[in-house]
Amino acid sequence: MRVLVTGGAGYVGSHTVVALAEAGHTAVIADNFSNSSPAVLDRLERISGVSVECHEVELTDAEATERLFHAEPIDAVIHCAGLKAVGESVSAPREYYRNNLVSTLTVADAMEKNGVRRLVFSSSATVYGAAHSSPLGEDSWPLESSNPYGQTKVIIERMLSDIAAANPGWKVALLRYFNPVGAHASGLIGEDPRGVPNNLMPFVAQVAVGRRDRLTVHGDDYDTVDGTGERDYIHVVDLAAGHVAALDHLDSMTADVRAFNLGTGASTSVLQLLRAFERASGRTVPYVVGPRREGDLAVAYADPSRARTELGWMAARSLEEMCADTWRWQSANPSGMSSRLDS
Ligand code: WQD
Repeated sequence: MRVLVTGGAGYVGSHTVVALAEAGHTAVIADNFSNSSPAVLDRLERISGVSVECHEVELTDAEATERLFHAEPIDAVIHCAGLKAVGESVSAPREYYRNNLVSTLTVADAMEKNGVRRLVFSSSATVYGAAHSSPLGEDSWPLESSNPYGQTKVIIERMLSDIAAANPGWKVALLRYFNPVGAHASGLIGEDPRGVPNNLMPFVAQVAVGRRDRLTVHGDDYDTVDGTGERDYIHVVDLAAGHVAALDHLDSMTADVRAFNLGTGASTSVLQLLRAFERASGRTVPYVVGPRREGDLAVAYADPSRARTELGWMAARSLEEMCADTWRWQSANPSGMSSRLDS
C-alpha cells in the first residue's frame, strides 16, 4: 500500500516509515519539521535503501493537505503529526487544541474527498487519566486526561468515531501508546527532542552523554517498588511494528473504529530504568530527588491482550535492548540529529 505518514520525520513516525518499507509498503511523509529535522530523510534512505517522498506541509492548511492526495493515490493514512509535550500543553492549550484538532479534521476532510477511508491514529495512554488503575484496558470508561495534550487525544478519538459512524466505509485504528523509548539498532535515528527533554529516557541519555549534569527524579514517595514512578516502556521499533500490524488489520476489522493499547504489560520504575541505562551505557547517571511532578501518576501500564489477539502483535524487546539502542543512538549523536558528522 501507499501510506501517507503525517509526522513521518518525527520519532515514532520515522521508525514507522522504516517498518512500512520493511513490510513492502510505500511511505509518503508529510511533516512541518516543527519537532523534527529533514536530516532524517537521508538516514531513512540509508536504513531502508529507498528514497522516501517527503512533503513539508502545515496540516492545518486545507489546500496544502488536500494536494498531498493528488500526486499519486494514497491507500491509507497513519496520522502521527501533533504537538505532544504535556507540560507545554498546560501553558499553551489554545495552540494544542487548534493544532491537534484542526490538523486531524483537515486530514480527515482530504481523506473523505479523495475516497481514502483507512486510518491509523497515534493516540496515547494519557487518555486513561487518573481514574483507572493498571493494567489499563481499552474499554476503561470514561476517558479523561489530566492535561490539554491528553484531552486532544480523547477528543480526536471521539471525532474519528463520529466521522466513521457518519461516513460508511471508514476503518480506524486508535493506537494508545504507552511510553515509547529506544531507537533503531543502526543508531541513525532516535528520539531527538528540541530543548530540555520532558520525558525520562531522553533526559537520562543526555545526562549519560554529558549534555546535562544530572537527572531530577520527580518524587520517590509513591506507593511503588522503590518509591519512584512506574511506567510501561515500549521499544519504538516494537511500537512501529504495531502500526503496520494495525494497518494490515483494518480491512478485516469488524468494528469501524477500534482502540488498541501498544504497551508491554510490564512496569519499570524511574530508578530501575536509570540503573538499566547505567549498565547498558557503562556511564554513571547522577540524580537528585525533587518534588513530585504535577499530574503524574504513580503507576501506569497496559493490558496489551487485545493487540495480541486481534492484531497478532506483541512487544518483543527488553528494557536492556531499549537502553542499549538508546545509548547507541545518543552516543553517536550527542547533540541530536542535525549536528552529527555524517561519516
Ligand atoms: C516517566 C516517569 C516521571 C522525567 C508522557 C506523556 C505520554 C507520552 C509519554 C506522548 C514519570 C519520571 C520524568 C524526569 C522523572 N507522550 N520522570 N524525571 O509522563 O509517563 O508520559 O510521555 O504520547 O502521553 O504523558 O512520561 O517520560 O515524562 O515520565 O523522574 O526528568 O519518569 O515522574 O514517573 P509520562 P515521562
